[in-house]
Amino acid sequence: MKAKLFFLFSLLLLLCALCGCGKEAKEGNTLTLVTSAHFPPYEFLDRQKIVGIDVDIIRYAAKKLGKELVIIDTKFDSVIGHIVTGKADVAASGITVTEERKKRVSFTIPYSRAAQMILVPRNSPIKGSEDLKKNKRIGCQSGTTAYDYLRQHIITDKNSPLLQQFETPAVAVKALKIGKLDAVVLDEQPAVVLSKINAADVVMLPQPLTSEEYAIALSKNASELREFLNTVIAELKKSGELEKIVESNTLLAQKVREGKNKLRVFTFLQGFADDFHSNFIADNRWQYIWGGFLKTVEISFFAVMLGIVLGFMVAVIRSTYDRTGKLKFLSRLCSVYLTVIRGTPCVVQLLIIYFVILKSCDNKVLVACIAFGINSGAYVAEIIRSGIMSIDKGQFEAGDALGLTYWQTMIHVILPQAFKNVLPALGNEFIVLIKETSISGYIALQDLTKAGDIIRSQTYDAFMPLMAVAAIYLACVMFLTWLLGILERRLKRNE
Ligand code: ARG
Repeated sequence: MKAKLFFLFSLLLLLCALCGCGKEAKEGNTLTLVTSAHFPPYEFLDRQKIVGIDVDIIRYAAKKLGKELVIIDTKFDSVIGHIVTGKADVAASGITVTEERKKRVSFTIPYSRAAQMILVPRNSPIKGSEDLKKNKRIGCQSGTTAYDYLRQHIITDKNSPLLQQFETPAVAVKALKIGKLDAVVLDEQPAVVLSKINAADVVMLPQPLTSEEYAIALSKNASELREFLNTVIAELKKSGELEKIVESNTLLAQKVREGKNKLRVFTFLQGFADDFHSNFIADNRWQYIWGGFLKTVEISFFAVMLGIVLGFMVAVIRSTYDRTGKLKFLSRLCSVYLTVIRGTPCVVQLLIIYFVILKSCDNKVLVACIAFGINSGAYVAEIIRSGIMSIDKGQFEAGDALGLTYWQTMIHVILPQAFKNVLPALGNEFIVLIKETSISGYIALQDLTKAGDIIRSQTYDAFMPLMAVAAIYLACVMFLTWLLGILERRLKRNE
């Protein structure tokens, strides 16, 4: 039995190792671009496709290299991380060149000038940067130079609730519109687009706060690629092509929203129908939800399976040690596993597995299954162990008297009863797990929650996408509860 357990463990380790050494970074025939596609006109979504100035520049370069362009869309504050960990070749995301960033990545020559601007509600008393210092609630996108500027010059208290970071500029502007913020600071071109789209409620102040330059970021070792991109940028500038790219994308970025803002004055029902249409029907946005739903189901299912396998193994090892004193080493190992997994937040574990342990694994779903499976296994283990402990000691003795070995008694007598006793607690754990997968967006995986976020950032509507996502999670959990109810009744009947 010991040998079998070892075998299972080794299998698991092998699995991890295999996917760790899978793809040796991104050579081959692709050029991987990492970006954060909520930054019009530099990068944004048009009919589910990632487009924009940055995308056009990199696509042009990829074409010249004869490589296929692969795009990773993630949160802006992990864009540079993707370069540092080798998950992408180039980062183009309206990235401002800063000394701090130069310590970690290298930059091409700049391709755009930029500045931080202030957006305020119409009729706001804020007229410039001095007014921002008067106890105002200010929003910005997290991980950006807007944040750095505000932190250094406007709100220096690190714990002040006045400075609020949002995942995308659009969400910050939404918060501004509904009165949760007094100002938003963001890059000039996105500010122009967003203030045009929201012209009824929001204005951009004319005074820039900073002067910045955008460049493409790459690994410090990629000097050849950097030189190549430098020539590409120089060429695009000289031929006037860059200007054209900027113009066409600026036009497109404003057009993408126009359809949405026309109607509004109808009755409540009409408004509801319009919102439903723009959030789910227009641009086939329901496909985000459907795709996200499938991912969530897939991740939850495999994570539950892995969790059960791990949980059973750990529980059996620990209770065997408790009862017989055997398997001491394995039992210690299991205790460490339980302590570490239950002592750290799931989202941190997910990030560690994605960025450190399975650094070169591109299959995000696999990463998520492993992370959530390992996490859930720890809780399942304790649930099962409590089940095993609840079984009367006499049963082991009875098994013994019948001539069964310890393991035979464990597998055929104890575990089935333990399982029945802990089924409600296990069900609870699975319910928690399904909802826990909603943090998958942290590794840029488009699960159900992330799908809602994407729609929200395109339509600037919080209500519909969030309600839809919540309703689907609720339905999943209710379905699972129903299944577990059936299983419980079956087991009872067999008693
Ligand atoms: N230029 C700013 C910076 O480098 C903001 C860039 C945000 N880009 C984005 N794709 N969201 O920090």
